[in-house]
Amino acid sequence: MTDRDLQLSTLPWLLDHHEAKYLDRRRMVDDLALRPGDAVLDQGCGPGLWTSMFAEKVAPGGTVVGFDISQELIDYAVTHLTGHPLRNSMQFEVGTFEATPFDDAAFDTVFLGNCCCYAADLPVVLKEAKRVSRERVVSKDFDDGAMIFYPVGEHLMARMLEAAARAVTENPPEPPFDTFTARKMHGAFRSVGFQQVTTRPYVVQMTYPLSAAAKRYLIANATWLAATAEPYLSEQERQQWESAFDPVSGVLDREDFYFCMMETLTVGRV
Ligand SMILES: C[S@@+](CC[C@H](N)C(=O)[O-])C[C@H]1O[C@@H](n2cnc3c(N)ncnc32)[C@H](O)[C@@H]1O
Repeated sequence: MTDRDLQLSTLPWLLDHHEAKYLDRRRMVDDLALRPGDAVLDQGCGPGLWTSMFAEKVAPGGTVVGFDISQELIDYAVTHLTGHPLRNSMQFEVGTFEATPFDDAAFDTVFLGNCCCYAADLPVVLKEAKRVSRERVVSKDFDDGAMIFYPVGEHLMARMLEAAARAVTENPPEPPFDTFTARKMHGAFRSVGFQQVTTRPYVVQMTYPLSAAAKRYLIANATWLAATAEPYLSEQERQQWESAFDPVSGVLDREDFYFCMMETLTVGRV
């Protein structure tokens, strides 16, 4: 992963991301309190990693539909989940979350996992999720305003976030990729008419010793940040950041390494 064009949605990235945050994601799924028999729509399901966690929670009798614009990711989900004991309770379909083929109120819960950051028109995506839900819509998001890589120096860390924020504000990615989604979701849910909107924060942390997946995830994250911030960094800042993530002498193998970022679950009742 070398530049910002990948926009953090490729299959290897999604697999590493999921493995690196697996326990955090399990906690989020537990907190959703899905019930046996529920029908769940996993919008923008990608490789189906949340889909199978939902299937466990809604068994027996529940169903989960994974829905994504990427045929490649849906194919991976179908292949990867072949033989899963709950495979019959999971379906996968390709399509766009702006206009889904599902009936009104077809699902108890509609889940959007790291999807709203890609929405060209967020209210359209949320209204469509609301249309097909009979109970609630849940969006899981992240926000690059709150991210720490330590022992990267505090000033360099702040400079990197500031430069990346400036880059995406002054030159928004096309197709859209909003890395400051979490802070906007509470208001966005309210603005399209959801009731009892709640937003719950999760601090996702990674510490020494890091798994191989966590290292790949962190390096990809740091690489994306540097590529995005690049127009507003000095050569010295660029080099300092690069050497901080050097595979041999960088920060990831230090015992005092600490990473954290903020993610949120926003829930709105229909
Ligand atoms: C960051 S990935 C998250 C995947 C999965 N939810 C996860 O957390 O592992 C975002 C997903 O949204 C999908 N996506 C982007 N735009 C979409 C659209 N307009 N309609 C449906 N899916 C879309 C991408 O293909 C990708 O799988």
